[in-house]
Amino acid sequence: MKIAIIGQGYVGLTISAFASKHHKVIGFDNNTVTVENLNTGKWHIECVDSSEIKRAIDSGTFRATSNGADLSDAEIVVIAVPTPLTKDRKPDLTFIESACKSIGENLMNPALIINESTSFPGTVRNYIKPLVEKYSKEPLNHLYAISPERVDPGRVDWNQKNTPRLYAGLTAEASTKTREFYSTFCDNLIEVSSPEVAEAAKLFENTFRQVNIALVNEFAQISHALGISVHETLDAANTKPYGFMKFNPSAGVGGHCIPVDPTYLAFVASQKGVPATFIERANEVNLEMPKYIVSRVMADNGGSLTGKKVQVIGVAYKPNVSDTRETPAELVIEELIAQGAQVSWHDPVVKSWHGTVSEELGGCEIAIVVTLHDVMEASSIKSSAPYIFDATGKLSGVRGL
Ligand SMILES: NC(=O)c1ccc[n+]([C@@H]2O[C@H](COP(=O)([O-])OP(=O)(O)OC[C@H]3O[C@@H](n4cnc5c(N)ncnc54)[C@H](O)[C@@H]3O)[C@@H](O)[C@H]2O)c1
Repeated sequence: MKIAIIGQGYVGLTISAFASKHHKVIGFDNNTVTVENLNTGKWHIECVDSSEIKRAIDSGTFRATSNGADLSDAEIVVIAVPTPLTKDRKPDLTFIESACKSIGENLMNPALIINESTSFPGTVRNYIKPLVEKYSKEPLNHLYAISPERVDPGRVDWNQKNTPRLYAGLTAEASTKTREFYSTFCDNLIEVSSPEVAEAAKLFENTFRQVNIALVNEFAQISHALGISVHETLDAANTKPYGFMKFNPSAGVGGHCIPVDPTYLAFVASQKGVPATFIERANEVNLEMPKYIVSRVMADNGGSLTGKKVQVIGVAYKPNVSDTRETPAELVIEELIAQGAQVSWHDPVVKSWHGTVSEELGGCEIAIVVTLHDVMEASSIKSSAPYIFDATGKLSGVRGL
């Protein structure tokens, strides 16, 4: 089949890598630098095996493009564009709209259009279908479906092949064709009764994580006040074989999903007049963690950070990726600066960020570990400063959560 994948970021490129083993794939992205890098073998996402994309390019089953006309004869179009929040923290569907415009203006034949971008229930039915129809030059009987993406970049044990995938079409034919497509590279497909159920399930999965992370972050603060180890307590609770799932405390949540998706759910809840109190409180707790960490560091260092040299170690939002979107490291740095500290950062995976570059490890009085990548050596970090605060819980023998 001829597949077009709109958006070649973490999700779209991952799908391209898997789908191009079985289909002819066009990777459409409106960022021309991304397209050029892909076609010339300079991958921009470390989680996708570059050899797979190279193999697909060499065998003619994958090509990246910014030219909308290349979408014209696609049989299946997969949407994998960002769904962020606006400045006033509302769902921002502008990327979805521009993707629908490219699809509508360029598709020449009826196709199956599948959304993989995360959004609120009703997006496929009430936004994507009407938008594609609005931009189509002539009416075409496209089919529409949702299959929310569950990929966890940087993770090797669960991938596109073995992660169970939810899906639902707007019609029975759309569902059948969606199943046919994904079954070529995914082992476990689960059909639900409507696109809205699949859309809501994706939001609830990430809300579950957001709320539990907030709960354990609050518990870390309670444990510290009680003088007990949060990690030992969590390990003890985790010996219960049922009814408990361990989450680890951290500097907060980051990335494109956990800080964002629950707010999509809260948005539709508020439209229906239902309060989403857990989501709101969890957002508050997670966003307060950087301040809490800085207050702990300050308390350990004579009550003031004014003029002190502090290095933040690990600024990616999670280990082994260079993604800094919504990273809690940014709030930690902001709070350190607000407290008068001289701040540098070190991250061998991120390398450059906000126009600054990763500094050598060390040379500071205080180090705060926010994210620990596998390439970082625990012993080097532990000897990098006289005082270390570890927010990851992975370094033994130092202060931390
Ligand atoms: N990153 C994850 O771990 C993850 C996991 C599951 C679901 N998702 C969801 O998948 C969606 C995509 O996320 P991502 O992390 O891949 O984003 P990303 O920012 O890594 O990639 C998006 C790509 O889309 C391109 N793009 C934007 N508008 C476009 C348009 N109109 N036409 C063509 N290309 C366009 C951008 O240039 C970019 O390369 C989001 O809805 C996200 O919530 C992400």
